[in-house]
This record gives sequence, C-alpha cells and structure tokens, in this order.
Amino acid sequence: MSESAKPPENNAALTRHRELCQRIAEHDHRYYVLDAPSLSDRDYDRLFLELKTLEATHPELITPASPTQRVAGTPRDGLVKVFRAERMLSLDNTYNEGDVREFDRRVRDRLPTGQSPVYIAEAKLDGASIEVTYEQGTLKLASTRGDGLVGEDVTPNARTMRTLPLTLPDSRTHTLRGEIVILRRDLDAINEERVAAGEEPFANPRNAAAGSLRLLDSAETAKRPLRVFFYDLVERYFDRHQDMLAGLSALGLPTQGAHQACADIDAVLRFIDAFDRTRKSLPYDTDGVVIKVDGLDQRALLGTTARFPRWAIAYKYAAEQADTIVRDIVCDLGRTGALTPVAVLEPVRLSGTVVSRASLHNLDYIAEKDVRVGDTVTVEKAGEIIPQVIATRVELRPEGATPWRAPSTCPVCETPTVRAEEAAALRCPNPGCRGRLKALLFYFTRRGGMDVDHLGHSLIEQLVDANVLTDVADIYALHQRRDALIALPRMADKSVDNLLASIERSRTTRTFTQLLTALGIPLVGQVAAKLVAARYQSVQALLDSTPEAIREALSDVHGIGPKIADSVAAYLSDPHQRAAVTKLQDLGVQAVHEVAESVIVEGPLTGKSFCVTGVLSQPRDKIHQRIASQGGEIHDRVKKGTTYLVAGDKVGKSKLTAAEKHGAQVIDETALEAML
Ligand code: IVH
Repeated sequence: MSESAKPPENNAALTRHRELCQRIAEHDHRYYVLDAPSLSDRDYDRLFLELKTLEATHPELITPASPTQRVAGTPRDGLVKVFRAERMLSLDNTYNEGDVREFDRRVRDRLPTGQSPVYIAEAKLDGASIEVTYEQGTLKLASTRGDGLVGEDVTPNARTMRTLPLTLPDSRTHTLRGEIVILRRDLDAINEERVAAGEEPFANPRNAAAGSLRLLDSAETAKRPLRVFFYDLVERYFDRHQDMLAGLSALGLPTQGAHQACADIDAVLRFIDAFDRTRKSLPYDTDGVVIKVDGLDQRALLGTTARFPRWAIAYKYAAEQADTIVRDIVCDLGRTGALTPVAVLEPVRLSGTVVSRASLHNLDYIAEKDVRVGDTVTVEKAGEIIPQVIATRVELRPEGATPWRAPSTCPVCETPTVRAEEAAALRCPNPGCRGRLKALLFYFTRRGGMDVDHLGHSLIEQLVDANVLTDVADIYALHQRRDALIALPRMADKSVDNLLASIERSRTTRTFTQLLTALGIPLVGQVAAKLVAARYQSVQALLDSTPEAIREALSDVHGIGPKIADSVAAYLSDPHQRAAVTKLQDLGVQAVHEVAESVIVEGPLTGKSFCVTGVLSQPRDKIHQRIASQGGEIHDRVKKGTTYLVAGDKVGKSKLTAAEKHGAQVIDETALEAML
C-alpha cells in the first residue's frame, strides 16, 4: 500500500513515528557523541515511551531504523564470517623520534619532487577495530577486523551502541572504519559487577571492548556501554583526510576526537609530545599517535606494502609505570606444577586498570631485583596486560625487611617443592595436587583449547573442592551432576543451562589441534600441537603408539625438537594422563577434522569412512594418509556412519562389538589394499 493510500489516521501515526525516531536519534547524537544533551532525561524517556506505545498499536510502523530496535532478535549460535574486498590494513609501529623522522624521509622520497606532505596526527585509540557499512542511508553491516580480509559479522551488537546512528542523511554507500572502546569508568563498573558475580574481571578496556563486541547475545552487549570512533572511510568522497573527518561528523557519525593537521614532521613531533600530557585525562585509553598523510592523491602514489600503508605509521608511547608497595610475595601454581612468585601490591592505577599483583617470574628474578615484602617497587605493564615489577627502590626500603625465602612446600598440597638444579623454577611435584588441577582446568577450557564458556576460576575452584571435577574429562560428565551445580552459590537454572550447552558444543566441535593444546602437555602450545595433529590425525593413533615410536615419528617433523618429542612421549606413557585422555574419548569428546587445513580430495574412496585398528604391516598414520589421499574419511573410533572397520592383528573386542552395533563392515588389510 502506498503512503497516500493509507487511511488518514494511519498517516498521522506514520508522521508521528518518523518525528519520534528522528528526535530520539538526534538526542542520542547530542547526548552520546556531542556530550551536549538538549532534553532532560525525563523528556527523553517520555518520547521513548510514546514511540513504544505507538509501535504497540501500529506494529507495521516498526523498521530496523527505529530506536526501539537497537536490541532485537535472539542470541546467535556463532559469528558468521564476512569477506571484504578491501583489506583492513594494520599499522607499522615506531617508538622514537628517529623512526618518525625516518618515516617522513621515506614519504618524501616517494613523492614527486616539489610535493610536501601535510600530516594528520591522531590519537591511537586502544580498543578493537570495526568496519560499518551504510547503504541507502541505512546501517547494513558491522564486522570485526579478523585477519583484515575475513572478519566476523557483529551487526546486532553494533546496533546496541547509542553512539552509532541507525540511519545516515546520505544515500550513498559509506564503509567506515573505526575503533570500539569502553570508557575507563564504565569498565570499573563492569568489573565490579563481574567480581560480585564470581566472574573474572577484564584485564583492560581493550579486552573488555573486544570481548563485548563478539558476544553472541546482543542483549548482553547492550549492557556494556561500547563507543565507536571512526577514523576512515573506504569510499573516496573527499580529497583530504581532514575533510573526510569533518564530513563524517556532519553526518552525525562519531569521529576521532583528538587530531591535528601538521605542516611538517616537527609539528607532528610536537603533537606527540603535547598529547602525551593530555591523553591521560581522556576517558578512554590511547596507546600512541597515528601519523597519516592528509592528501588522498598522495596516499595513492605512496601505496601499501602487504600489511601496512606507506602513508601512515603508529607512534607508540612507552608503557606506563607506577611506584607502589609490596604487601606480600606469594606463589601462583601452574598446571605443570610450576610455582611462579607474584608480588601482591598496594593497588595502583596503571594503563587503565587497577593493578594489585605483578609477576616476579622466577627465583633468579627475585634474587636479582632483591624484592622484599615492604619494598617500594616500580611496576610496568608489558604489552599492557601482565604487570611486571621492573625495579626495586632500595633507598625506600623499611628497616628490618628481610630477603624473601622460597617456600619449601607447595602452598596448596604441602608436598615438598623441588627445584631443578640449573633452572630457576620451583615446582610442586605432586600430580594429584588440587591447585595444579585447577590451573589445568582453567587452561583446558580456554578459547584456544576446548572453549568452554561460563566456567571461570571461582566455579572451577568450587567444583574441584567439592570433588565434582577430579580431572579434565569430568567436565564432560557435568550434565549428570546438575544437582551439584544448582546447589552452588549464584548458580541458577539459566546459568547451569548455559554452562552445559557450552560443554556440549565443546564436546563435538573442537579440532584435534585444539584438544592437544588444551591437554597442556609441557612445551606443547598451539604451534607444536598443530604439527603433532598433522602427523597423527587422531587421539587414538597417539594412544596406540609406543613412546619410542612417538619420539621417532615426531623427530622427523620439521618444527618439533627432541625436547617436545620427549615431552609428548612422556605425557602419553604416564598412566594418569592416559587414563584422563581415554576417559575423554569414553565421554564422547570427538576431535573434528581441521577444516582450514584439510584439502578435500575426491577419489575412489569418497563417501566411505574407515576406522583402522589393530597391528598392521605399516604405521597406522601412513595407512590413514593413503586412505585420505583417495578421498576416504578417517574415523578414530567406530561410530554411526563408519563404513569399514579395518582390523589388523590383535584387534580389540570392543572395536568389533562397536562395528556390529553401528553396522560397519569388518575388513582386513588385504581387502583394504585391494580398494586402494
Ligand atoms: S588507521 C591503514 N587510525 O590501530 C590505516 N588506526 O595498529 C589503518 N587504531 O587496526 C588504521 N586508532 O584498530 C588508524 N586513529 C587511528 C586509530 C587506529 C586506533 C587501531 C586500528 C588498527 C590498529 C593498527
């Protein structure tokens, strides 16, 4: 129905609806972007209520551009990938005046003689980058940076930001790039709530912004006051960066606030100096200055390298430092039993968060810095995340402060600690230590590992203390312990459901590399895990190998040294570890094939799947490779859909029973050879 054909009453509603949407959007802009509200909170609430009431009686008026629709829809199962035509580049970093001058020389060398660049110096915001597209004046897509070319669709989350207009008064396509930040004061409030709810506080505003942007439930994101500041427009509607920034502002878009046009590099250096003094009073974190060539024609002449533009560079300020007092020195217990000394500090504000602990690394480090309880120390945030003690102010030492003595027993299980002769590391040697188990569980459930959400430090702590979790595999039996979960403080039906749903996802969606990483085998991080996974294909293949065979097989792999090979072999010959890994399999933890790496091969075995078991004439992974090279799929146990069980000598009875149960045909090696 065209507008003019609508009954008059409806037309009036439509006009009022438009008016209300516009006034609310205008006010949001004045309030959140310009910080100059024109309405009282009460009047604003009145307008909002009127809009809601109007939409309740005229639901046909609701459009995605209505301010009532900032939070809408249901939580999603996962984030969808976004492929972009124009890569989101990153910036090369510099740390001193010399490097900045060198950048200027390179720019001048590449520009035609007689052309001097004008620079724009901008605050480098320390948050998470985002790309937002408007088409026909309407917000269409928001995505994270990802690897530059492929990001993730976070549109519903971005829509919750009141600083982001849902419509633009310009119908041309606008692809904007900017930074999402959380104000320091907002982070303090979020962290207070998280701690009260027994959750881990965010380490800094950057992590909080990036995490909030990627949440699956936009209603949750709406509770986090994210802000966006744009610094780039992909379309070429302007000739100069400063005009572009002014143009975006005129459209009601929040832009990079702190920026300045500089006639030469000396002016840029003066800005860098001056901004270092004012940036701490900004409500959000900045970690440097971005220096950009202003003219877009000049940028085109300068071009880009594979990763960085040649027309821009970041200058990063030195990490912030602060002095504070050491209240205590304690030892953190890691999953391998390593005891890391940590200084407990008089809380001090540093790079956006309050710091109350700092790493002291190892015994040699403490001895070298001679850190004692009561000392005043200088702390710094390395990479802005883990604070470190970098110096001891010996001149301020209180009388009677004594050198620190390493604990002779584990602070958790009281087993006597051991210290390797040559290493500065102290260890708890007890594999059954609860402290070690807690650390392992935390490590196991991280995102790069088995990615179990809603299982934070305090819940792990309670579940281990209650003997509900006795090893990592017990996580996958938690659905049978619903009562035990509900009985814990602060656990309600919904939180239990969320936890169990996340465990279910973890059970069936993690890759072999992620599982191997999660196990926390000493020296085996993500990179080594990937190499081991590529060599072995399945957990069962590893369990079936002897330590000697593993050492030999892995020593052939480029990138795995003898130490890592030994560590994997030792891990798999330890009866405790074997039991836990087998238990994981029994509980249905199924590593999926690595999608990114696997090349789909078409061949005579396409559509057929094989589980290879027993003693065979060739190493099992060789057979796996030959099957896969002909298009066959490898199953590491007989399950629903397995076509063949290839049975070598001494095949286990359980495998045969499983084959019968799932209707897999049992064949011998000769029959397989015939197929190959
Ligand atoms: S320009 C090709 N400007 O810093 C231009 N980036 O280290 C690329 N960032 O991924 C970015 N403030 O997320 C630019 N004023 C600013 C910025 C800024 C923060 C972030 C951005 C980028 C990262 C590069």
